[in-house]
Amino acid sequence: MNTQNRPYFRSTDYIGSTRYRKLSMASLVIAIDGPAASGKGTLARKIAERLGFAYLDTGAIYRCTAHYLLRELGADADDTAAAIKAAEYVRDHLNAEMLSNPDLRVEDVARATSKVAANEKVREILLNAQREYAKAPPEVNGLPTGGAILDGRDIGTVVCPAADVKLYVTASTEIRAQRRFDELALKGEKVIYDDVLSDMAERDQRDSERSVAPLKPAADAFIIDTSNESPKDVLSRAIDIIRGHLAEQVAKNAP
Ligand code: CDP
Repeated sequence: MNTQNRPYFRSTDYIGSTRYRKLSMASLVIAIDGPAASGKGTLARKIAERLGFAYLDTGAIYRCTAHYLLRELGADADDTAAAIKAAEYVRDHLNAEMLSNPDLRVEDVARATSKVAANEKVREILLNAQREYAKAPPEVNGLPTGGAILDGRDIGTVVCPAADVKLYVTASTEIRAQRRFDELALKGEKVIYDDVLSDMAERDQRDSERSVAPLKPAADAFIIDTSNESPKDVLSRAIDIIRGHLAEQVAKNAP
């Protein structure tokens, strides 16, 4: 593979990795999907920390695309040609700095993201980078890692249908809207709960009803409802599921 054209796998790599490296042993792939503010990002980060795995927030890749379209191309989210141009730019220039830009998190970018992400060509352009990350995760803190965690909407169904463990993290719309509202209020943004709720419901509907890679649990995903659970409880449930999977593998491979 030509790593020259994959700037996001170069020296300033994601989560402290020092250089792109193919692992000689098979590494574990954990797919986490779910709607907005379900807690999947928090869970993914915590599992990655606990297990020393590489973590890719695939939503940030789509957000970068919408961000480039709005802020650099000055286009409208419904402009298909601009969305494709933006996706190609992101594919060719993706790096850790782009993915952590705080401007990706503002609500107009979130709204535009779910429109841009419904475009089949955009998804096709961005698919390979996600699959390659899962197949050969970058080092974490200078060490080869035992696995990759990807979170998004279609990781268990489209990006990594053969993932070792699939989690689908969800919560009621009202609770998710309250979480997003608290998050925005904490950042000092003046927001109205009802607006956050209706924006979120609209985005969920678009994500679930689109014809390409809609948000839905894979048939073999474990569903985790975080409505009434603390992040700590959610983490320990997920770790139990992963442990269960590993124990099954050990039993299967026993002589
Ligand atoms: O943080 P939040 O859950 O609100 O959003 P996100 O995970 O950053 O994703 C933003 C948007 O990107 C979603 O509303 C989806 O439309 C899109 N997305 C997608 O289509 N496929 C993915 N694998 C990840 C995100």
